[in-house]
Amino acid sequence: MCGIIGYAGGGNAAAAIYKGLLNLEYRGYDSAGLAVMENGKCRVVKSCGRVEKLNASLQFLSGNTGIGHTRWATHGKPSNSNAHPHTYGKVTIVHNGIIENYAELKSKLLAEGDVFSSDTDSEVLAHLIDKFYDGNLLSAVVKCADMLKGSYALLCMREGKDEIVAAKYRSPVILGYGEGCNYCSSDLPALAGNCGRVCVLEDGDFAEVTASYIRICDRTGKEISREILPNLAEPAELSAGGFPHYMLKELWEAPATVKNTVKLFESCKTSALAALSGAERIILTGCGTAYHAALAGKRYIEEFCGIPCEAEYAGELRYKTTPECGKTALIAVTQSGETADTVEAARLFKSLGAKVTAVTNSPHSAITRLSDAVVRVAAGTEVCVAATKSYSGQIAALYLIAALLKGDDGEMTKKVEKAPDLILNALQQVDIYTLAEMCSNSRGVYFLGRDIDYAVALEGSLKLKEVSYLPGSGYPAGELKHGTLALIDEKTLSVFIITDEKLAAKSSGAVEQVLARRGKVAVLTNIDGVRGAFENRAEIITLPECDKFLSPLVSAAALQLLAYRTAVIMGRDPDKPRNLAKSVTVE
Ligand code: F6R
Repeated sequence: MCGIIGYAGGGNAAAAIYKGLLNLEYRGYDSAGLAVMENGKCRVVKSCGRVEKLNASLQFLSGNTGIGHTRWATHGKPSNSNAHPHTYGKVTIVHNGIIENYAELKSKLLAEGDVFSSDTDSEVLAHLIDKFYDGNLLSAVVKCADMLKGSYALLCMREGKDEIVAAKYRSPVILGYGEGCNYCSSDLPALAGNCGRVCVLEDGDFAEVTASYIRICDRTGKEISREILPNLAEPAELSAGGFPHYMLKELWEAPATVKNTVKLFESCKTSALAALSGAERIILTGCGTAYHAALAGKRYIEEFCGIPCEAEYAGELRYKTTPECGKTALIAVTQSGETADTVEAARLFKSLGAKVTAVTNSPHSAITRLSDAVVRVAAGTEVCVAATKSYSGQIAALYLIAALLKGDDGEMTKKVEKAPDLILNALQQVDIYTLAEMCSNSRGVYFLGRDIDYAVALEGSLKLKEVSYLPGSGYPAGELKHGTLALIDEKTLSVFIITDEKLAAKSSGAVEQVLARRGKVAVLTNIDGVRGAFENRAEIITLPECDKFLSPLVSAAALQLLAYRTAVIMGRDPDKPRNLAKSVTVE
């Protein structure tokens, strides 16, 4: 969240930064800005709203070195003055992260007579670096960093020199090596097509970036070397490819994601087995959608391997009483690999002696660097803020991990190999338009299921909320009568997911309870008896038949489509929902 980019080269810095910002916009889009060094002077343009609003100013900027930012507000409302870059004296900065002790630093600076022009935590960085500067920008940045509590990916320029200094702590910075130019960025998509090689900074690293060199060093200024990797980001992945929105494009990419995740799993097996076998307890963690995938993963491991499992939100897990870690293994599920709560939970468990396995879509992320084993989700770039195909990949990966721990002889893997066709059937056959209309006309939408269908209900609800802004929740169907039923009337819609024969009668009872109270009902099912029972009394969505444990793949496909259609009917932008950002690097 918040995207930062720096460019130093022979070309037009403003154009290069603008292009990078467009590709980083999924990290935040309430305001944007950029600064270029023109004849030794720093020129800044900013705008509230989307990155494209900067376009009109680009023609007036001509420098070769610059920095840019797209913002997801943490401190201070979205506004021109709170937009980055922030300048103080001769120093201009962009920042991703949170400076936890900014209030204390700011009051000292105010007492010294400094005047602040924003409500952000980040502005203190420009003030401190300007004050500490004594001829060397890097050492001023180090002195500033020494005073900070919190997290930062920081890019800084000072008037008079075509140079960017970067600093990284608990927020990502990737350096890109181009032809006659160099880059710094929060993430790979901004570097797609620009540079063949990249380098991921570690916590505590600093770097000097100019058109002709990148120098990485520690806080003493001593040069250090970091592995230089090929740039895996594909420019082609950055187009919606004829689809009206990335969300629609990406949810159609779920079958390919599952197929490629199965393929990649072969190369992950040995390390996953080493990290997980022998564990007497497995904890799965993640945030949002990734947590919902973790819930399904918990069921797989318990059911197939009999190992006691827990699934916990990463933001909660971190603050529980210090966990007993002997013989405990952690599985951290995260698309971006940078979600602060997930990364910190993994770091905590590792420090307590637990083996950590990451299930992630991001090969160069913070989570991959600290984990003992990495199981790759092969979703490719997911641009839409709402997770779609990555969820499907996570489900497939967790199912495969459970199969591996069980010692599967290939039967379970074969089942996952068939899943892409089932997802495709669901996407092609499900007629979701009527239900999307029903959602858009409802005052609240509740998603209900039992067991694995409950895990999917949570995800269906989250997806609808985030892209349509309709209120609602996911519940275990059996819990309805214990309180939530009070919300039901003719203006609410209850969406039941019923894919488990064994629990179908119980869930059907809950459907009857809602109908008896004149609530509107939809039933997503692949069970004939359920369909027959509610044919003329509820909206029926028929799902393809599939193994109960892989049903999240087909029901989620239908629910993602439902969320997308509802958002479009309601005139929302499904790719960039209000208030949100992808890759939540603040705690
Ligand atoms: C919802 C969504 C979020 C993310 C969550 C974790 O559609 O995208 O709930 O799932 O922020 O992100 P990652 O998986 O990157 O750790």
